Amino acid sequence: ANSTDVEDLVGAPMVIAHRGANDRYNESTITAYKIAARDGVDALEIDLRMTADGRLIAMHDETIDRTTDGNGKAEAYTLEEIKEFETVEVFNNQTTVEVIPTLEEIIDTFRDTEHYYIETRLVDGQPVMEDYLVRLLDDYELISQGLVIIQSFSKQSLEKVYNLEPSIPLTLLYRKGKFNLEDAKSVPYPFIGIESTDVSLEVVNELHEVGKKVHVYFTNNDTQKAEQKRVKAFQVDGYFTDYIEYTKELLETE
Ligand code: G3P
Ligand code: CA
Repeated sequence: ANSTDVEDLVGAPMVIAHRGANDRYNESTITAYKIAARDGVDALEIDLRMTADGRLIAMHDETIDRTTDGNGKAEAYTLEEIKEFETVEVFNNQTTVEVIPTLEEIIDTFRDTEHYYIETRLVDGQPVMEDYLVRLLDDYELISQGLVIIQSFSKQSLEKVYNLEPSIPLTLLYRKGKFNLEDAKSVPYPFIGIESTDVSLEVVNELHEVGKKVHVYFTNNDTQKAEQKRVKAFQVDGYFTDYIEYTKELLETE
């Protein structure tokens, strides 16, 4: 990856490393992101959760049960407590363990050598992670360098980010089965994130007509590769991929 502005980057379809290279290492860990970066992806996708003491960690699920040796809601723990747990996975019959990283630790690892595609969410229905997040990204000068996109299923969260820093490119995500074309055409965000089974040629063409880029995510690993092939024919603009090598090869073939 390099330090081009997001605006330059989106000329070609973006290969977005969904939770890092999660097909080869524990999802959302520094190592998973390092593998993705080594593979030359266009952006690292990072889901955020907030700890009880207001720190941001890379964690997809509401609870730490699926990915770590602990259990309970991530937000119930302070950062110090969260650091006592480890992510645990098995790849090729080998168990790999690694601590849960904070967003700062991920950014400290890659600085301005990567693009960050960060997902915010409401905490107990409130937009409370955005202040800390925007300040952090600003401190690292990532916003001014065009190295960040922020995505969310929550319009409230995106509005909060916009009010804090209007120059950050934003993506509105729609849940599987909940995509609404008229709504997507009318929102003031440059990127629309859609689950692959809701993506059709008509949807992509209509969004392109109003100047929006379409970034596709996938919820079924068994059909993901076939789905990537299907939506490629519609000239979508980004893939939140769980199979980086596959996606890169797919985009290189005519
Ligand atoms: O951020 C794109 C995609 O990751 C949205 O779904 O549940 O995997 O965060 P989810
Ligand atoms: Ca996500």
